[in-house]
Amino acid sequence: MQWLLTTLILLSHDLCFLTKVEAINIPAVIVFGDSTVDAGNNNHVPTAIRSNFPPYGRDFEGGKPTGRFCNGRLVTDFISEALGLKPLLPAYLDPSYGIEDFATGGTFASAGSGYDNLTAQLTNVIPLWKQLENFKDYKTKLSKYLGKTKAEETLQQAGFAISMGTNEFILTYYAFPSRSSEFTIEEYQNFLVGVLEKFIREIYTLGARRVGVAGFPPIGCLPVIRVVNSMSCREELNNLARNFGGRVKGVLSKLKRELKGTKMVFLNLFDTPLQILKNPHLYGFENVVKGCCGTGTFEVGYACHEPDPFT
Ligand SMILES: *[C@@H]1O[C@H](CO)[C@@H](O)[C@H](O)[C@H]1NC(C)=O
Repeated sequence: MQWLLTTLILLSHDLCFLTKVEAINIPAVIVFGDSTVDAGNNNHVPTAIRSNFPPYGRDFEGGKPTGRFCNGRLVTDFISEALGLKPLLPAYLDPSYGIEDFATGGTFASAGSGYDNLTAQLTNVIPLWKQLENFKDYKTKLSKYLGKTKAEETLQQAGFAISMGTNEFILTYYAFPSRSSEFTIEEYQNFLVGVLEKFIREIYTLGARRVGVAGFPPIGCLPVIRVVNSMSCREELNNLARNFGGRVKGVLSKLKRELKGTKMVFLNLFDTPLQILKNPHLYGFENVVKGCCGTGTFEVGYACHEPDPFT
């Protein structure tokens, strides 16, 4: 996705800031979320929401589609590398990796998932509560591998990243009357933020102290939305994305006050990506309207990192 390039820049800035100011060491990166950060977990669950076929992975080493919803590496891979860890952050369900790899982090994310249990249910992907169960399994293995004290220390210093929620607003809420009749859009946002808050409290009790939560990109400009909106952005969805980001930010500052010893970072993925979507040529992009890999009605994929400067 185009804005993931910017995400990377923004995340790098945030993380550099952290490292510079505190001279801290981040020994592992732990990720929960949806397709923005799934490195191939869905290859190991019975769902159609997969990306282990071309053109995904076109710019990956060997042009290999790995299950990343991306032409190359994900933002979280770049972050891991920038922190001096692995250049690829492995998917926790990938049997070709073991605890010796996951000791410096991994992703529990599942494309198509979200804060609402119903979202993962729709496409039979891994719901957030199950991502948390998998993380608990990881913690047990990490304790055996590193020893209890060292494992706890690792988790306390690790960077936790959470990136999801878009599927709720492009799919779950609008496509399923069960949600839109139950909640107004305001109430639904509060419901989702409530799930996020509970989730952060849970990972806190499991050791997490450094938590970054991604806000939404301008989802009204997603190809999947444009294709049903005469190819233009849907402003009300963009407003919603901005609004939801504000709520996430609010809950993070509340948690930071309540939970001792935490660092909470809100990652604004809205403003800069919108600039790029408005002036793609200034940033080296040619097309921000069409998806690369969709069916015509479900256009969600596009290049998600820097375009080749020579083309
Ligand atoms: C989601 O499902 C899990 C497992 O069934 C449950 O524990 C949790 O309370 C549910 N979350 C919400 C918000 O309903």
